[in-house]
Amino acid sequence: MEEKRSSFTGKIGFVLAAAGSAVGLGNIWRFPYLAAKYGGGIFLLVYIALSVTFGFTLMVAEVAIGRKTKLSPIGAYRALDKRFSFVGILAAAIPMLILPYYSVIGGWVMKYMVGFLVGEAGSMAQDAYFGGYITQTAQPLVWFFVFIGLTALIVLFGVQKGIEKVSKVMMPVLVVLMVFVVIYTLCTVDGAWEGVVYYIKPDFSKFSIMTVVSAMGQLFYSMSLAMGIMVTFGSYMRQDISIEKSTHQIEIFDTGIAFLAGMMIVPACYAFSGGDPAALGQGPGLMFGVLPKVCGNMFGGTVIGVVFFLMVLLAALTSSISLMETVVSTLQDKWKVERKLACLIVLGVSVALGTVSCLGYSAWDTVTILGMQFLDFFDFLTNSIMMPIVALLTCILVSFFIKPRVIIEEVSLSGEFKWKTLFSVVIRYVAPICILIILISAVLSAFGMIAI
Ligand code: TRP
Repeated sequence: MEEKRSSFTGKIGFVLAAAGSAVGLGNIWRFPYLAAKYGGGIFLLVYIALSVTFGFTLMVAEVAIGRKTKLSPIGAYRALDKRFSFVGILAAAIPMLILPYYSVIGGWVMKYMVGFLVGEAGSMAQDAYFGGYITQTAQPLVWFFVFIGLTALIVLFGVQKGIEKVSKVMMPVLVVLMVFVVIYTLCTVDGAWEGVVYYIKPDFSKFSIMTVVSAMGQLFYSMSLAMGIMVTFGSYMRQDISIEKSTHQIEIFDTGIAFLAGMMIVPACYAFSGGDPAALGQGPGLMFGVLPKVCGNMFGGTVIGVVFFLMVLLAALTSSISLMETVVSTLQDKWKVERKLACLIVLGVSVALGTVSCLGYSAWDTVTILGMQFLDFFDFLTNSIMMPIVALLTCILVSFFIKPRVIIEEVSLSGEFKWKTLFSVVIRYVAPICILIILISAVLSAFGMIAI
């Protein structure tokens, strides 16, 4: 089945495409609220430690699998070992579960951007605003429909390249803006420096297994690992491009943006709430609660608010497009569904699941699964259960079936694999054991069998 695959051109093509898919709401919205919730500095430390060991190993393995087989995930896992076909299918299902709730958050971002635009900055800076907003039934639903509809239109008409170009130009603007907001907050908000200490200095008494569970889930999510995305990217990668170097670049870039977003949100939240654990642990609403307050305090805050949420919206859109595109092309490749129909199916499923996530905060807020609201449940199911399973099975496949040597050879095609000892040790022993422990703790805690 030797078909000709198009490949990324130039050295930077792969890194840019992978970074484009990596940078999104995960960095700007999800990372800061987890860092605030799970103890600040200790979360940061665990995250970085996991990133240079697990993150690195897993990304190298996935990209190499893709480049070696030149297939997308379902085919790639099957080609390596028939018994592992289901891992590819499981991986391919993950983007379908992420896309709906990702778009609900995308809708919140749109709402906030428009809010700043029409001069509601003042009321958005109020404490109760965000809670009041998401508990309404109609509004959040409408914004969610707009976001997912826009994503579907872009995918349907195949104009994502245009959007991606725009967003790549905008990315530096986002970074500059974040640096500006960080400096502004630190210079003007009382108590922000104590917040910086909370964010950066590890407090080991705040460590729990949940710190590791959430840091690892976040790592998978943020770098789009353990869901076949990197296998697909690898399949388009040329042999003379270094997998090792590209992986380092993507990691540094992705973690850098997440760190900066945390710097922007965590110290400000700490300062506004006086370090109140309830405020720090509020979860998904953190960015939406804190940023309007920061903007409300600053000269020209309304303009900053509009520009900021516009940039975040673009980053979110490129990610949602790539999530939808992944599912659509899986349907096209594997089940020979026509593209238009595939788009409609994905849109339909997204609308259904996203509506559930949206209403979970309002009309259906009494319904919970394992004590979680729907949006949190989908997030937990994908990040803490499905992705660790895919990651674990990928490690087992590489370690015991195809052998790490094969991956090392693939990586070495474009120069010496410097971290190969680390790679072999992590993929054989460290990763499988740790992922298993983490997976078991996540399941047990979800069923209330252990308190962590
Ligand atoms: N990594 C993206 C972010 O940080 C989210 C994401 C997860 C994603 N899986 C993906 C994006 C697959 C594109 C494709 O927001």
